Amino acid sequence: MKTPARTTVTAALPYANGPLHIGHIAGAYLPADIYVRNLKARGKEVLFVCGSDEHGAAITLRALKEGTTPQAIVDKYHAMMGKAFADFGIEFDIYHRTSSELHKKTSQDFFLQLNANGAFTENTEEQYYDAEAKQFLADRYIIGTCPNCGNPDAYGDQCEKCGSALSPKDLINPRSTLSGSTPELRPTKHWYLPMERSQEWMTEWINTGMLDGELQHDPAEWKPQVLGQCNSWLKEGLRPRAMTRDLDWGVPVPLPGAEGKALYVWLDAPIGYISATKQWAKDHNTEWEKWWKADDTRLLHFIGKDNIVFHCIIFPILLKEHGGFILPQNVPANEFLNLEGRKLSTSRNWAVWLHEYIERWPDRQDELRYALATIFPEFKDSEFTWKDFQDKNNNELVAIIGNFVQRIFVLCNKYYGGKVPEPAPSNAVQGEQDTVLWAELSGIPGKVAADIDKFRFRDALATAMNAARLGNKYLTDTEPWKLEKTDPDRVRTVLFNGLRISAALSVLLEPFLPFTAQKLRTMLGLGDLKWADALRDGLIVPGAAIGKPEHLFKPITDAEIAVEVERLKANEPMDQKPTAPKAEIPSKVDKAAIAFDDFAKLDLRIGTIIAAEKVPKADKLLKLAIEIGEAEPRTIVSGIAQHFTPEELPGQQVLLLCNLEPRKMRGVESQGMVLMAEDAEGKLRFVQPSEAVPAGSEVR
Ligand code: 2FM
Ligand code: ZN
Repeated sequence: MKTPARTTVTAALPYANGPLHIGHIAGAYLPADIYVRNLKARGKEVLFVCGSDEHGAAITLRALKEGTTPQAIVDKYHAMMGKAFADFGIEFDIYHRTSSELHKKTSQDFFLQLNANGAFTENTEEQYYDAEAKQFLADRYIIGTCPNCGNPDAYGDQCEKCGSALSPKDLINPRSTLSGSTPELRPTKHWYLPMERSQEWMTEWINTGMLDGELQHDPAEWKPQVLGQCNSWLKEGLRPRAMTRDLDWGVPVPLPGAEGKALYVWLDAPIGYISATKQWAKDHNTEWEKWWKADDTRLLHFIGKDNIVFHCIIFPILLKEHGGFILPQNVPANEFLNLEGRKLSTSRNWAVWLHEYIERWPDRQDELRYALATIFPEFKDSEFTWKDFQDKNNNELVAIIGNFVQRIFVLCNKYYGGKVPEPAPSNAVQGEQDTVLWAELSGIPGKVAADIDKFRFRDALATAMNAARLGNKYLTDTEPWKLEKTDPDRVRTVLFNGLRISAALSVLLEPFLPFTAQKLRTMLGLGDLKWADALRDGLIVPGAAIGKPEHLFKPITDAEIAVEVERLKANEPMDQKPTAPKAEIPSKVDKAAIAFDDFAKLDLRIGTIIAAEKVPKADKLLKLAIEIGEAEPRTIVSGIAQHFTPEELPGQQVLLLCNLEPRKMRGVESQGMVLMAEDAEGKLRFVQPSEAVPAGSEVR
């Protein structure tokens, strides 16, 4: 593997169809920003590109909803997102957009090269068509039940609940998002990427890092969940995927006979990283190619888990088929962030919107950056709560960093009139307390950088915070405020060291808390610092002027948090609010108590219904095929035919008693029992997990 000479960092181009929320920020943009800031501080050559994804059905559907044009939508949200990123300190080298002319030309040329290389097959295939809306239904124009997790509102290209990539024909019970009607299949011609041709090299590249006989990346450095998602795709077998769509909003397919067709948004969007790089190079009068073509460039894609297959499988295939491009060396995807116990949701307005946060909490960007970085969903989903935000601010930012810096500046202003004291005798290390302090501090910059290199931002931040903790401990141990009269030499040394720790904090925390780092540097009278400056001798100069003590952070009150929680609750989706039952349900439990051992005999599990049909000559019975992770799905006969149609059941998760003795009903052997909740009117409802779980998960 070549030692990288430079790094190209991309962050997923967000759809310009709505504002950004904290899930987006914790998923891709803040980790990427921290990573890039750290590399830049270490003097590495790095380019950080992003921009708005302005094509595809996500945009046109939003335009329909807002009663305006797609162009008006992308103009509005491109500006809004660009501003929110900048206000929040996400410092891209360029924030571009895919509706630009440069992008149109770049992606059309890319497509034509693929076509010339024989990378496509042309197929006329049946696709869903909405006869009412007179339109083919690509991707997000169609929704239905996800075959993997049962989410009833999965899109034609992707299930946002389980993250799997889908094709419209995978959906169970498809329906048009334009008219709500059930679509029909009609023939249409498209350009397909026969991904099955790449099955072999892709499997090898993902799992060994080898490509064309050379080691390109170390799979041990990839996150297990990223490898897992790729391998589950590879195991299914790569299949052809259409790279064009019947859409009038998008980059037109630049071929004769393709009128009315646009490039598939997932072809066009990642090429957006390349066109953004070209635009940046043009703006800076420099070359773009080395960032995408030089074999000593390392390419990294920061994304959320719903984008994994597009960046790890489809885009690399496109890059390789095109030729001349490097492939990503890592795709450090994050899992999802939840909010106050629920999935973040744009459509349900269950979100903390970044632009609103900035409006309501002006100059408190670092407080949110910090709270998010401590809970990044690096390996599994995690959760943001306003209470945790308050705790992190009050107990960590205020109590650890703020308190330390405040004490140092108060004492230096009081004792030395705002000047850096001269340490005595002539250097800052005087006896054991100081030796221990420097020994511990000296390991921190390297460890923070190493964790950032491994995309372990939570660990890196915790280590950087240890520098402030060490500073507080040092003050508590040395108690300079008690020694001023008796040992002024010692006090000068201690406070000089305190200023050095403050300077180190302004370097170590900068990737995470850039606004605070800047404030701290101003207080210290320091300019731009590099990573190597963190503990450098000579950075703090005796006699130099320092600023007045300032509070770097303010405590957040319970009342301030209550306002946020109330705002959120006001948005609580109606269908998730507990509603009072219409009639009283007899609540008396009158069955005899059972021993725990008897209860423990029940094998309760969550299963996923994969098929349902009526049992002939039985009004009440349905025959269900339920997946519980065994070799064969279970057959279960259930008396629910008057409550559910067979069509609405596939994909639903149900609670199942699996070890009930098999029994024959109407000639069919039933291998268990589906358990349901019954309301006061006798209507049955599913008992389901709050989030989809793998079929066969135990219920205890
Ligand atoms: O999921 C999304 O928001 C997509 N717009 C991400 C695109 S990433 C890249 F390929 F541009
Ligand atoms: Zn799903």
